[in-house]
Amino acid sequence: KKTDFIQSSCNVGLVGHVDHGKTTLVKALSGTWTEKYSDEINRGITIKLGYAEAAIDQCPNCNLIIAESVANNLRKSKKDQKGMCPNCGTKLNFKRRISFVDAPGHEILMATMLSGASLMDGALLLIAANEECPQPQTREHLAALGIAKIENIIIIQNKIDAVGKERAIEHYNQIKDFVKGTIAENAPIIPTSAIFNSNIDLISEKIEEIIPSPDLDHDSEFLFNIARSFDVNKPGSEIEKINGGVIGGSIITGTISVGEEIEIRPGFRSKEGKYSTIITTVESIYEGRNSLNSAKPGGLIAIGTKLDPSLTRSDQLIGNVAGIPGTLPDVQYSVEIEAHLLKEVLGAEEEIAVTPIIKNELIMIVVGTSLSAGVVEKIGKKNTITLKLKRPICALDGSIVAISRRIKNRFRLIGYGYLIS
Ligand code: GTP
Ligand code: GDP
Ligand code: MG
Ligand code: MG
Repeated sequence: KKTDFIQSSCNVGLVGHVDHGKTTLVKALSGTWTEKYSDEINRGITIKLGYAEAAIDQCPNCNLIIAESVANNLRKSKKDQKGMCPNCGTKLNFKRRISFVDAPGHEILMATMLSGASLMDGALLLIAANEECPQPQTREHLAALGIAKIENIIIIQNKIDAVGKERAIEHYNQIKDFVKGTIAENAPIIPTSAIFNSNIDLISEKIEEIIPSPDLDHDSEFLFNIARSFDVNKPGSEIEKINGGVIGGSIITGTISVGEEIEIRPGFRSKEGKYSTIITTVESIYEGRNSLNSAKPGGLIAIGTKLDPSLTRSDQLIGNVAGIPGTLPDVQYSVEIEAHLLKEVLGAEEEIAVTPIIKNELIMIVVGTSLSAGVVEKIGKKNTITLKLKRPICALDGSIVAISRRIKNRFRLIGYGYLIS
């Protein structure tokens, strides 16, 4: 077991319209292709939240800051050793590790993007130069970053290889107009080609400048948002060698160590639709292929448990939260939300005004990594709405809620709010 592995201290999201190059850019920055599932490979779109990590290094001689695999790609000849500065050949020093959260860009996967946003400390917003800017999910994802209060943003003007100089400048001006008055107004814009590895070194340097690792909150209890869940056993494994269920996600606050007990809520859903809390023990902690004895916020962490893997298989526990037994918020089947609506629906091609929420309408909400839908039971004073949820949630008071409504057969982001107790 390697014990010198230093955990990621920061999650960098990749967001933007479908096919603008998010997954390709994660590969260029980290060396990892995040799409693994046959549906993703066959259809060529990201469906699940992807994750990869990268070591960011610094040259002690010329101070260049660069991701490890980017430096290795820039090595002038195969004879050069790995881990050397591509400028001056000095051995690079490790600076920090970061994780990438690769969101899907397809319009029908907006809920997955929103749950990913709850894990991001900063984001790269990809905008492909060979299409007009903005595309619908360029707008919708930027609004989602605003809702999740992700202000450390770098704009990547990708696919620069596919256009001429004039079009690149015209597209740059479209981006400038688009971000005016938004949280990305002053975000740097880096022209790149993810597929030809151009300017990728500038991105790792900018990430260091724009997306610092957040300060750790050492006082709060352990709280973990589950973004994925797995059965990591290969078919036909011998019973004695079966691993317990694995939950993947990010630690929001606190720390966790191997051997500790955790509680998972809302938990197990019975055939009758009742939920019961799950208590289990942490057997292992991984970040990627690296085993940890304990973990803190930062990075995408996989917690191995003593649970029957049939409970965690195929992402069944997405949207649950884990904590120390007895410390988690109550499970809520009905929620009150202080709602704020956008003026306009951003995710559709056409311009559609957002009309007020009305009684009995169906609303979809995303809180943390958790997705639910509910019927509006009551409209109260000061923009409050009460929803009766189809699937309960477990979240702290004051949590940010992304609010979507069904418009022409698609759920579109229409606003945000805060949970009220
Ligand atoms: P979703 O996850 O489905 O939203 O897509 P994505 O944003 O992850 O895009 P992906 O990386 O899958 O790339 C989509 C297509 O664009 C692929 O065919 C890539 O090879 C191509 N592509 C990505 N980056 C570039 C680039 O810089 N230049 C060119 N010409 N093509 C690119
Ligand atoms: P797949 O996506 O279902 O093919 O599963 P992977 O092999 O990619 O593993 C899914 C996640 O579980 C990854 O984040 C791994 O790091 C993690 N993982 C795999 N085996 C173990 C284990 O024994 N313990 C823990 N804690 N995590 C594991
Ligand atoms: Mg992708
Ligand atoms: Mg696998």
